[in-house]
Amino acid sequence: MAFQVLELLVLLVVAAQSIHAITVPQTAPSNASTVDPSLLSVSIEFFAFPGYTDLSATSTCLANIASLRGAHPAVRIGGTTQDRATYDPSLSRAVNYSVASPADAPTSLTYGPSFFDLAADLSGDVTIGFNRQLNDISNVGAAAAEAQDTMSNLYAIELGNEPDLYGSGSPIIPSSGGWTPTTDGQSQKEWETGLAPSVGNIFQAAVYISFPTWSAQGLIPILGSAIDFVKTFSIHSYPQSACGGASTDLNSLMSHSGIASYTSRFKPDAVAAHGQGKQFFLGETNSATCGGGGISPTFGAGLWIVDYVLQAALNGVDRLYFHQGTIGNCAYCFWNTTVINAPYYGAYFVSQFLGTDGASISELSTDSSAVAVYAVYSSSNTLLRTLIYNSNYFDGTGTRSNQTVQLSGLSSSLSKATAVRLTAKDAGVTIGQGGAEVGAVTIGGGMTFGSGCEVSGEQTGESVAVSGGVANVVVQESEAVIVDFTR
Ligand SMILES: *[C@@H]1O[C@H](CO)[C@@H](O)[C@H](O)[C@H]1NC(C)=O
Ligand SMILES: *[C@@H]1O[C@H](CO)[C@@H](O)[C@H](O)[C@H]1NC(C)=O
Ligand SMILES: *[C@@H]1O[C@H](CO)[C@@H](O)[C@H](O)[C@H]1NC(C)=O
Ligand SMILES: *[C@@H]1O[C@H](CO)[C@@H](O)[C@H](O)[C@H]1NC(C)=O
Repeated sequence: MAFQVLELLVLLVVAAQSIHAITVPQTAPSNASTVDPSLLSVSIEFFAFPGYTDLSATSTCLANIASLRGAHPAVRIGGTTQDRATYDPSLSRAVNYSVASPADAPTSLTYGPSFFDLAADLSGDVTIGFNRQLNDISNVGAAAAEAQDTMSNLYAIELGNEPDLYGSGSPIIPSSGGWTPTTDGQSQKEWETGLAPSVGNIFQAAVYISFPTWSAQGLIPILGSAIDFVKTFSIHSYPQSACGGASTDLNSLMSHSGIASYTSRFKPDAVAAHGQGKQFFLGETNSATCGGGGISPTFGAGLWIVDYVLQAALNGVDRLYFHQGTIGNCAYCFWNTTVINAPYYGAYFVSQFLGTDGASISELSTDSSAVAVYAVYSSSNTLLRTLIYNSNYFDGTGTRSNQTVQLSGLSSSLSKATAVRLTAKDAGVTIGQGGAEVGAVTIGGGMTFGSGCEVSGEQTGESVAVSGGVANVVVQESEAVIVDFTR
């Protein structure tokens, strides 16, 4: 009897501390996915863009990512309000609108030439979303020509945002009615054909959110030879909805198996776009639609970003543009006037994993659907780092379990590696109003961000012993660790 109890205890301990043995290929596997230097990019809501340029956190948060990756994040300026905007060449300010409360988005607005001066000051590729819903192609043509003249960083132009959601009263919808992927596709083709001679072959096509009913794959045959006018394809993606008080769930958002399953839907569209020689982007994405819900500012949403970015890349997504909405009314935003939120810590961490030297990534299979292990390789195919994500959900109650990952096949001459941990006391932690809880989420022991997004504190890291090409790394539930073999 006593023996059986002991045996049961041993089993319980083993279950709580499962060991996952992973052989790490020292050179990039042939199926490793190449990563775009701007894989992690941002989208900024059209009407709010000038306001973002007034926040010091905007340039600093973007510059932090640029220094980690050696390339600036791309910026897409667009969203719902791009389809409410009219260009006014005589407007001296960048945007003009009125709203009842600062938390509201305007139902209509005008913008002037100085909008493009602000966009021209951004580092990195800039994509601008214009209005197709109002069916005024000459107004859009004038705006696009001004953008071309002003912005040496202009990368692509969108004609409409999520046209699949245009209501029946939208001026672009023919009076005979009917708005389907086919009629929208014909409209995209007509506009691209009309504008390309003056603004170039720089359109970001599709821009759908009702995926996969409306898709790049479906649009390509409708465009026919107008595909030559298209530079890139974009789809919008939010795994959850916070619209109309819909409920969100953090455990399922950050679940590795859930993320792997969700992102696999993008592969056919990525393959179709790549087949045409065009890049495929999640041109607007974040955790939950309608500005994000209660789960969106949490540490768990930061962990979601880490795994979501890597899984999207493995499925052929070239860039993810994380949306930043109304300043001061945006649960999923990386930053606002006072706080650098927990999701940004995930964005920073995954960028650090990829590094300036990371050229391709591979997922190493584990025996647990909740634990993911990735490896990043240099352009000469040598192993640089691994990232381990334990997506088991820790809500702060009870004992926090952990998993030991045994990495083997490492260079026999290696005696140590450095572990950098992204952690917090539980998945639901937020940084909080006024930065009162800065330090609630940390990278590498002591690194956080000040309210202007400046790096604060230090990544001390942890020394990991490597012996005979084997290293053991413990990762708690709701935590991620980079194991860096280069330092
Ligand atoms: C890549 O190849 C490895 C080894 O053949 C395999 O285990 C893994 O599932 C493959 N990954 C992808 C994304 O196809
Ligand atoms: C700005 O918009 C308001 C209405 O929202 C309008 O009354 C005003 O004339 C506009 N100003 C300019 C300079 O266009
Ligand atoms: C900034 O974001 C945090 C977390 O979402 C929120 O608590 C705070 O109220 C926001 N501050 C402002 C000024 O919007
Ligand atoms: C891992 O979990 C075991 C069992 O609960 C515990 O004894 C150990 O301290 C934990 N280790 C870490 C590094 O969290």
